[in-house]
Amino acid sequence: MTAQILDGKAISQDIVQSVRAKVDARTAAGHRAPALAVVLVGSDPASQVYVGNKKRQCENAGITSLAYDLPETTSEAELVALVGKLNADDAVDGILVQLPLPAHINAEKIIELIDPVKDVDGFHPYNIGRLALKMPLLRPCTPRGVMTLLERTGIDLVGKDAVIVGASNIVGRPQALELLLARATVTVCHSKTKDLAGKVHGADVVVAGVGIPNFVKGEWIKPGAIVIDVGINRLPDGKLCGDVEFEVARQHASWITPVPGGVGLMTVATLMQNTFDAAVNRKP
Ligand code: GUN
Repeated sequence: MTAQILDGKAISQDIVQSVRAKVDARTAAGHRAPALAVVLVGSDPASQVYVGNKKRQCENAGITSLAYDLPETTSEAELVALVGKLNADDAVDGILVQLPLPAHINAEKIIELIDPVKDVDGFHPYNIGRLALKMPLLRPCTPRGVMTLLERTGIDLVGKDAVIVGASNIVGRPQALELLLARATVTVCHSKTKDLAGKVHGADVVVAGVGIPNFVKGEWIKPGAIVIDVGINRLPDGKLCGDVEFEVARQHASWITPVPGGVGLMTVATLMQNTFDAAVNRKP
């Protein structure tokens, strides 16, 4: 079997276009365009690329992006003050603080300060809690984007065995909640998991998010499984690769995401959906 490719580029473009159509209808009805504040502290090169992509997709979606590019030396108190100002600003619908933050700033503290109705990353404990209780409001972008990709396979997830490799706050944990909400049977694997190969081999759906190149071996994939690779790793030669051994895995899987061109683009497209949703939630 050779897997079909889940084309994150095409699907993310579809999503951004559909957000654009909804934004246009909303502005035609007399609302202002949704507005997203994008806060970047410091000059981490990967974060600069991600933030640039977010601003560019805002333009495509008809969303106003408000850029706050702050120096590495920004104090925690200054960032706290900015988040407070953005929370209070009625013209701001979504607030995104790019992670990682410099070591002298407590990221958890900043995330908890963001007004949950403007938390378009879905990282606030309130939004994670709502997702855990089957009443999601704003859902973390990457796991929500993965669910959109899974929907596009047309395969019903109810009762399927899903294995997530990685238990991070941004990917693994909220992905488990999303898959549980879709009524899959979920196993979350991490660095202490026994027999990872066996667990992955039992899975109908594999989601890998560990940040280690080719960590999930292609031979582990069960014939016909769906493989979603969240990893974006830069190799010494400058090329990007995922967490899954793609060339071997595609010989076993029914569907697989490429890297680049898979989940990464979906994260940004989903951020546009969340920003639109936040604007509507605030002003129906
Ligand atoms: N850093 C890596 N991924 C993300 C994300 O989805 N949102 C934010 N704010 N920072 C990130």
